[in-house]
Amino acid sequence: MRNVQQRFKMHVPVAIIGAGPSGSLLAWMLRRKGIESIVIEARSREYVEGRIRAGVLEQGTVDTLIAAGVGDRLKKESLHHRGVCIGFKNEHYILDFDKLIGRGVTVYGQQEITKDLLSALDRENHNVLYEAPATMVEDLESETPTLRYTYEGKECELTADFIIGCDGFRGVSRQSIPASVLKTHDLVYPFGWLGILANVKPSKEVALFSHNDRGFALLSMRSESVGRLYLQCRNDENLDEWRDDRIWDELDARLGAPGWTLERGEITQKDVTPLRSFFSEPMQHGRLFLAGDAAHIVPPTGAKGLNSAVADINVLAAALINRIQNDDETLLRDYSDIALSRNWQVQRFSWSNTAMYHIFPESNSFTRRMQDAQLEYLVSDETAQILYAQNHTGLPFAHKPEF
Ligand code: APR
Ligand code: PHB
Repeated sequence: MRNVQQRFKMHVPVAIIGAGPSGSLLAWMLRRKGIESIVIEARSREYVEGRIRAGVLEQGTVDTLIAAGVGDRLKKESLHHRGVCIGFKNEHYILDFDKLIGRGVTVYGQQEITKDLLSALDRENHNVLYEAPATMVEDLESETPTLRYTYEGKECELTADFIIGCDGFRGVSRQSIPASVLKTHDLVYPFGWLGILANVKPSKEVALFSHNDRGFALLSMRSESVGRLYLQCRNDENLDEWRDDRIWDELDARLGAPGWTLERGEITQKDVTPLRSFFSEPMQHGRLFLAGDAAHIVPPTGAKGLNSAVADINVLAAALINRIQNDDETLLRDYSDIALSRNWQVQRFSWSNTAMYHIFPESNSFTRRMQDAQLEYLVSDETAQILYAQNHTGLPFAHKPEF
C-alpha cells in the first residue's frame, strides 16, 4: 500500500499547480473574491522569486495588476516606454507607439510581479506549499479529480472541484491529458539568446531591436541604472567563452549606429535561453484547466510570455468565479476557445518577429532579402507601424473579473 500522508488529504474548491505568475495571480484573484484555493509549488520560494524573466508589460497586464490590488510597487518603480527603436542597416528608427496608437508599454521585471503576488498571498496567510512537486493528476473527468504531490518526503493527495495546471512548460498537468485528446504544435529555433544584466545606464530611452548580419541583438533595461541586453547565439553556446569585453564588443557591433555610443558597465548575470514556439490544444480536459506556460510558450522576441499568461488568467478567474459563485458555467466551457484564439495571435506575432529579426543558419539570399524588405516596410510605412504597435503593446483582453 502507498504511504499517503493523511494530514494533507483534503478537498479544496480549486487546486493550483505552480506558483509562477499564472498560479499566484489566479490564487490571488480567487482569494479577493472569497474563493478558497491551495497552491502546490515544486521549488522553493527563493527559486520562484529569483528566476530572471523578460521585463515588458502590456497595458492589459498593468491594468489587471492594479485592479487586483497588487500594483502599488509597479506604479512606483516601473518605467513607461513610448515605443521601441529598430536597428537596421546601421541606422536606428524610432517607432513611437504613443503617437501611433495612444499607448506604449511598461518596463517592470516580471519576477518582481511574482514577488508582489507571493507577498500579497503571504500577508493573507494563503495556503502555498513550496518544495511540493505535483506528481500526478487523475480522474479528470470525475467531479472531484485528484492531485498527488510530494511534501516533506511524503506522498500526499487532495481532491478538488477544479485543478488548474499553472506548472509551466515542463509540468505534469499537460502531460496528464490523454494523447488522443491533446494536440501540440511545436517549433524549436536553431538559436538562443545570450542575456546579460549589467549595472549600466541604458544607452537608449526605449528598447532597441537590431537585425544585423552578425545576428540579432536587443538592448533592454530594468531601471535607469540596470540594463538587460541580449545577443542571438547558438543553442549550445558555452558561457565560459564569453568574457565580458567580448560580450560588449559583440553588442556594440550588432547594435551600433553612427553617432551613438553603447555604454558599458559591470555584468552581474549571464544566461542562455533557447527559443521555442509551442502551444497545445485544448487548454481544458474535464476538470483540469491549463494556463500560461503549461499550455503555450513563445520565443522572447516580443516579451509575450507573461502577458499571455495574465490574459489566460483573466478569463479563467472570471470563469471560475462565475461557476463557483453564480453557478454559471458558460464562460468556463468557453475558456479554452477564448484563450486559444488570443494565443494564436500572440504566437503569430512572436513567431513573425523572430523570423524577421534573427539570422537563420539555413537562410539564403532570397530569405535575407525578404527580411530586409519586411524591415524596410516597417520602418517606412505608418500602417505597418500601427499594426506592429497594436501587437507589441498587446491585443485586447477578452474577459476579466471585476474587483
Ligand atoms: N509541481 C508543482 N509545481 C511545478 C511543477 C510540478 N510538477 N512543475 C513546475 N512547477 C512550477 C515551477 O517550479 C514554476 O514555479 O510551476 C511554476 C511555473 O511557472 P512559470 O514557468 O513561470 O509559468 P507561468 O506561471 O505560466 O508563467 C508564464 O511568466 O515569468 C513569465 O515569461 C515567463 O512565460 C513565463 C510566464
Ligand atoms: C527584456 O527586457 O528582458 C525583454 C524586452 C523585450 C523583449 C524580450 C525581453 O522582446
